[in-house]
Amino acid sequence: MREFAYKSRDGDVYVLINVNYGDALEKITENYTGCAVFVSRSIVDRVHTKCPLIPVIDGEEGKSIEAVLSIVRSAHELSIDRDGLFIGVGGGSVLDVVGFSASIYLRGVDYVNVPTTMLSMVDASLGGKTGVNALGLKNVIGVIRQPRYVIIDLTFLESLPMPNYIDGFAEVIKYGITMDRELLGQVMSNTDKLLGRDYGVLEEVIYRSLRDKASIVEVDELDRGNARAVLNYGHTVGHAIESVSNFSISHGRAVALGMICEARIGVKLGYTPRYVPDLLMDVLSRFNLDNRVAIDVNGLVNAMVRDKKRSGEFIKLPVVIDVGMWDMVKVRIRDLMNLVIGECGSMP
Ligand SMILES: NC(=O)c1ccc[n+]([C@@H]2O[C@H](COP(=O)([O-])OP(=O)(O)OC[C@H]3O[C@@H](n4cnc5c(N)ncnc54)[C@H](O)[C@@H]3O)[C@@H](O)[C@H]2O)c1
Repeated sequence: MREFAYKSRDGDVYVLINVNYGDALEKITENYTGCAVFVSRSIVDRVHTKCPLIPVIDGEEGKSIEAVLSIVRSAHELSIDRDGLFIGVGGGSVLDVVGFSASIYLRGVDYVNVPTTMLSMVDASLGGKTGVNALGLKNVIGVIRQPRYVIIDLTFLESLPMPNYIDGFAEVIKYGITMDRELLGQVMSNTDKLLGRDYGVLEEVIYRSLRDKASIVEVDELDRGNARAVLNYGHTVGHAIESVSNFSISHGRAVALGMICEARIGVKLGYTPRYVPDLLMDVLSRFNLDNRVAIDVNGLVNAMVRDKKRSGEFIKLPVVIDVGMWDMVKVRIRDLMNLVIGECGSMP
């Protein structure tokens, strides 16, 4: 078991890794006047707590304003007051919608994240970004409000299909290549154990990943400075790949390809050492995240123009300057498009 806490505007956030979620929740809920567990429909049969269980739709269709209203209605019917607690149990989609609902119910109640996918264990459960999709746009409505606790019970991973499980490693590799050389080394020397879901190695890798993310959230919680941009490595191109594939390419695979493309762009811009794209390919291939896919580069470029992180004519692009070290550069959108066309036409 590992644990740590990080500081936020909303107070300290406690992160518990490799614990039994039931035991942890029993202690935490003692301090609240009421509680409700909003759980992904796919795992509702596996979840047992003293708090009432409310199944919610997961996936992108579950991240809707209608789902928020339904959660608010359930909380109201259960007479959850301002000292009550929301608990989200599921993948990133469920945590995003439950966290958002908690943030606006009675102008904000505490919430706990219990992630059940690899991606949500290493990424979506920590950092306080909550929200839903609307008007055909992803995460267009949302707020940043931290959970009180993040509880990681590795046994949830047992039922996760292999492609979903592997997807989360794109984010782990992202932390490694941008800010944690040691983590990247651990991932490379323990690939077989990680693919076999060995709890000992997983505990360490999830702990380091979340600590890395928390260290960034602590200095740029609201994503207004430059620090949080590093968490977006591979995502500027990755989100565009997801979008042009109509979400048939999963988030992890899109981010993997995005990292390779952005590493090549970093080399071209003169910031990234030449060996980095090859190193990335090597580690991603160990997790089968380097599949060749046909990408419509023009569609990709059009999707990038609509990126919500652009600011006027420029976009902030994190670049790897050595393994485990990064910097942020501002690139003119027009130049970035030309770089994508030149460097990422055939990937990997
Ligand atoms: N808030 C953040 O900081 C942040 C960060 C990254 C991603 N996200 C969001 O997370 C979402 C993606 O999260 P995800 O990859 O966890 O996908 P997801 O929540 O859509 O879940 C993927 C699938 O796994 C199933 N599932 C969940 N737990 C399971 C388990 N233990 N066993 C078997 N099946 C299980 C779900 O039913 C679903 O079909 C996206 O909406 C993305 O925007 C948020």
